[in-house]
Amino acid sequence: MSTNYDQIAKEYQASKLQPWRTHIERYTLLRLARSVAGLRVLDLACGEGYYTRLLRRLGAAAVTGVDLSQGMIELARAQELAEPLGVRYEAGDAQKVDQQQSNDLVFAAYLLNYAKDYDELLAMCQAIARSLKPGGRFVTVNNHPGDPPENFETGRMYGYSKKLEGPLVEGAPIHWSFHLADQTIEVTNYYLTKATMERAMTAAGLRDIRWHCAEVSPEGVAQMGDAHWQPFLRQPPIVFVECGG
Ligand SMILES: C[S@@+](CC[C@H](N)C(=O)[O-])C[C@H]1O[C@@H](n2cnc3c(N)ncnc32)[C@H](O)[C@@H]1O
Repeated sequence: MSTNYDQIAKEYQASKLQPWRTHIERYTLLRLARSVAGLRVLDLACGEGYYTRLLRRLGAAAVTGVDLSQGMIELARAQELAEPLGVRYEAGDAQKVDQQQSNDLVFAAYLLNYAKDYDELLAMCQAIARSLKPGGRFVTVNNHPGDPPENFETGRMYGYSKKLEGPLVEGAPIHWSFHLADQTIEVTNYYLTKATMERAMTAAGLRDIRWHCAEVSPEGVAQMGDAHWQPFLRQPPIVFVECGG
């Protein structure tokens, strides 16, 4: 069953404070996004606006966040109200978005792994492609299709674990648990192969697909030591992709 983010919006926000999120996820994504100064950006599956706010603070000229969960969008809007940045938030399905070639960058942290099959993935990629200006770029992070189930407990030392439901076939649910100080929250996404992801991106007209490994920020190494990050880097649970529109 799909995760109901309305019910865990606040707790999901807390999971973004885990050090691997900052020192690996955020660091690698922002490196791939490069300079966003002056760009029009669409943040798909924006959640409560973690990256949406960050992209605007980094100088993006206009940023819109879209998310399926009304609860997440309400949380994002509450933060915009408390500290206005000029970010727009809309509740909606990323598969149906059409921003008519108006964005320099489409950014999506954990969207594609919510597609349960090729058709849903294709619809997402088509929405991304039609929302990009010619020459625009797409940057994303998702569950790593090459992360083997026998590695799914390695993440406990970083505050998460994964669990596969059933055999590792296309569309199989993968349950991520985030072990927070006072509770554990679970979100479910879906297994899709690298080949399926490339096929959908290509069919949608996205070009120059480049897969990137997770990287650790220099601050992360300074704070926690190189050895701390090695199990994560040896078999990363997430993978990054950039491509052109
Ligand atoms: C793991 S959260 C990531 C949120 C945010 N990008 C971040 O990194 O903090 C995944 C988000 O994807 C959203 N989502 C799932 N399917 C979606 C869809 N078809 N269209 C838009 N948002 C979707 C969920 O509501 C949830 O907020």
